[in-house]
Amino acid sequence: MKTITLNTPLDMHLHLRDNDMLQTVAPLTAKSFAAALVMPNLVPPITTKEQLKSYAQRIKIAQGEEDFEAHLTLFFQPTYTKEFLEEVREDIIALKLYPAGITTNSDGGVSNFDIEELRPTLSAMSELGIPLCVHGETNGFVMEREAEFVSIYEQLASAFPNLKIIMEHITTKESVEALDKYPNLYATITIHHLLITLDDVAGGMLQPHLFCKPIAKRPIDREALRRVALSGHPKVMFGSDSAPHPQSAKESCGCAAGVFTAPIALQLLVELFDKEGADRENLQKFISDNAKNIYGIHPKEKRVTLEQKPFQVPPIYGNVVPMYAGEEIGWSIGLVE
Ligand code: NCD
Ligand code: ZN
Repeated sequence: MKTITLNTPLDMHLHLRDNDMLQTVAPLTAKSFAAALVMPNLVPPITTKEQLKSYAQRIKIAQGEEDFEAHLTLFFQPTYTKEFLEEVREDIIALKLYPAGITTNSDGGVSNFDIEELRPTLSAMSELGIPLCVHGETNGFVMEREAEFVSIYEQLASAFPNLKIIMEHITTKESVEALDKYPNLYATITIHHLLITLDDVAGGMLQPHLFCKPIAKRPIDREALRRVALSGHPKVMFGSDSAPHPQSAKESCGCAAGVFTAPIALQLLVELFDKEGADRENLQKFISDNAKNIYGIHPKEKRVTLEQKPFQVPPIYGNVVPMYAGEEIGWSIGLVE
């Protein structure tokens, strides 16, 4: 049986939620990943040291016995002071900026992208070496939102050359092209955006469990994403954007955005890299090494062996339906040590 061992897999964009949902999903990521960057879009969003401390505690309890480190993020607000950011520095890995209202629980996000408006927080972050993660979509036509946002990335990257800016869950060739133009722009890519296009979401019967923000784009965009992921491009990291919602919120009129991939992300990634004949070293870079370099983190080692043997994806975890529910995928998780 063919096997592939990953050293210290990292998920650099993850939604763990809270309460019952946290209990359901945290162990699934904690089992096969060494660490993750956890998003702050709770209700209310995470904006204080107290919230950071207590969320970290709740995650610790929910992850159980697994060796796993949750790196928290703070919900971006334009007027944080340097003193405040210094106080929370040890509790966070980055700040996450959402345009107001663009996605799940982002109402408190940024509505004015004038650089001067954002300067107080961004210059403090830049001085303290805190990276900025961005959900890069305008409120334009849904297929163009990310491409339209690239000019904002460019303004941010030139105005704050010492600030590391991570373009989260990129879905377009325009974002891929921006990567190499600015030394301080980086990106995460999800497994679902490497696998699907808009056709899979809405080309036949509507597939609510594949609906997310940013929406999956064109084949040409998917090609661009695959090119940088499969080649182990040093500025690109894996971030699942696993975003669980209760079944009732997905299979309803007004479907919530988010694809739940935590329990199958590694299997699907290995399957894709294997099918495409990509170098195993590139997979290792994409799943771990690049993120370590970009964020300067030193996660505790965890070796995860994937086996080329069918895995039947469960129809549901708690009340969350995963991507490919009930279907068979080609790889399974074996030994974790
Ligand atoms: C995410 C969520 O549900 O929190 N949804 C999504 O469609 N990706 C938020 C996000 O990352 O946009
Ligand atoms: Zn997300």
